[in-house]
Amino acid sequence: MPITKFPVIDFSTKTAVKYDTAIIGVYADKKLSNAAKTLDQLLGGILSHQLLSHKGFEAKEGASLTVALPARAPYLRVILVGLGDAKSATEHGLETTGGILAGVLKTQAAQNAIFLNADDIDLAKSDAHAAHAVGLGVLLGHYDFELYKTAPKTDPKKPKTALARFTFLTNDDKKLSKEFVTQKHLAESICLTRDVVNEPPNILYPATFAARMKKTLVPLGVKVEILSKSEIKKRGLGLLYAVGQASEFEPCMVVMSWPGTSKGTGKATAKEGNKTKGKSQQPIAFVGKGMTYDSGGLSLKPGASMMTMKMDMAGAGAVFGLMHMLAKRKCAHPVIAITPLAENAVSDEAYRPDDIIKSYSGKYVEVLNTDAEGRLILADALTYVQKHYDPSLIVDLATLTGAIMVALGTEHAGVFSNDDDLWEKLNTASKTTGEKVWRMPLADHFRREMDTAFADIKNIGSSGFGGSSIGAAFLQEFIDKDRKWAHIDIAGVASIKSPRPTNPKPFGTGYGVRLLNDFMKDNFG
Ligand code: BES
Ligand code: MN
Ligand code: ZN
Repeated sequence: MPITKFPVIDFSTKTAVKYDTAIIGVYADKKLSNAAKTLDQLLGGILSHQLLSHKGFEAKEGASLTVALPARAPYLRVILVGLGDAKSATEHGLETTGGILAGVLKTQAAQNAIFLNADDIDLAKSDAHAAHAVGLGVLLGHYDFELYKTAPKTDPKKPKTALARFTFLTNDDKKLSKEFVTQKHLAESICLTRDVVNEPPNILYPATFAARMKKTLVPLGVKVEILSKSEIKKRGLGLLYAVGQASEFEPCMVVMSWPGTSKGTGKATAKEGNKTKGKSQQPIAFVGKGMTYDSGGLSLKPGASMMTMKMDMAGAGAVFGLMHMLAKRKCAHPVIAITPLAENAVSDEAYRPDDIIKSYSGKYVEVLNTDAEGRLILADALTYVQKHYDPSLIVDLATLTGAIMVALGTEHAGVFSNDDDLWEKLNTASKTTGEKVWRMPLADHFRREMDTAFADIKNIGSSGFGGSSIGAAFLQEFIDKDRKWAHIDIAGVASIKSPRPTNPKPFGTGYGVRLLNDFMKDNFG
């Protein structure tokens, strides 16, 4: 469970419980729904007056107006929320509206809210119910991370009570509440990822992160194996060992496997599940970079760039949230997920620029910059997953390079793939989830920049240009020739500086959970 306690989101055909807040969605045409009309009449026309008077409420997407009600009214307040133009309404817009509502409800210290006209705002063009999008937005917009604030009551901006219930009034409560379970799981999974990204590095380090994954996932039927520092050494994962050797917090590697549900049931729910046996049981692999802190090592980062490097485990965090989601929704296909975890620290035991290290693949790597550490731990994890699990395809997620932010900014992740079809599938999932991606180049000339006189490869390029492609080309060196693989550089998207309606507590975003969940759902069940 994520740290934030979510309100209950439910669906009801009547307003049986006493609510303190009523919510009415209003499209730009300002037409009142039947439910809204009834309430308006009861209130002597306050709502229509607010809506239709000269300087009244403009029902733009995301706008809201809180109307305090007189003593004998059935609610303390009504919140009018703008939905924009009915024809151009989207799931994504409604989700944002849900996030905005969560914010307004918080400032109003509302405890129980009822959305009166959910049925009237349904999306014509989509099979998703509008209420599901709004509800997911309410959950995500409720996210907070307050573990280390001992005196939240002294903050005058913080309400004393939290929203406990958010109800949609609807004609179809059974089906809608059954289907909303998936949204709830998604919100939980995203917030699990946000939590681990937000945790400080003195509290979330390899051992504690691994323990959290195990505790959360094992009860859901995920097998979780943790390779200790000594096993990493014994088995020859030399790169992971070297990167983690300076820290008081020992490195480890978490191997998670989800068996899938299609096997043995005779039901091939996934497209791939129809293929001949053997081939269809090859797992899909996810690998996530898990630097619980990246100081840069001996190639020390300057203070300003070191700050926020607790997020350097966001790839592993996304893989964790994804496995939670896949297990919760009982994904048909078998999945294997690996997160190499380490802290890139400074001590007399630190690995150095000029060290030559034998990787798990057997190739020797010359380290010329200890701050290019993510590619090193990923290389061993990628070799490990191919050698032991023979996956049909691999997707890795990593906060790998600052250069990806120079290229793409902070909304698109960079995707590097050796397979056009895999790229297309990720791009499609990106469109449905709103987690943006942009394809970036892989090319031999990037690889050649890492030639060195002393080893098989060095860990940085020679030109200083195309840093993200250099990182990707380094990883590709450890990918089998015919293995389908995509690397997603999430350095720009894994954290944010300012709040968004559905991500009100700035820092961890949970990027990747939705993208890869839809990628799985669309293609493999
Ligand atoms: N974790 C960083 C990348 C990063 C930078 C993530 C900014 C999020 C925000 C990575 O380990 C790193 O330090 N990369 C170096 C690579 C360089 C030394 C070749 C970089 O981007 O400067
Ligand atoms: Mn680094
Ligand atoms: Zn890093």
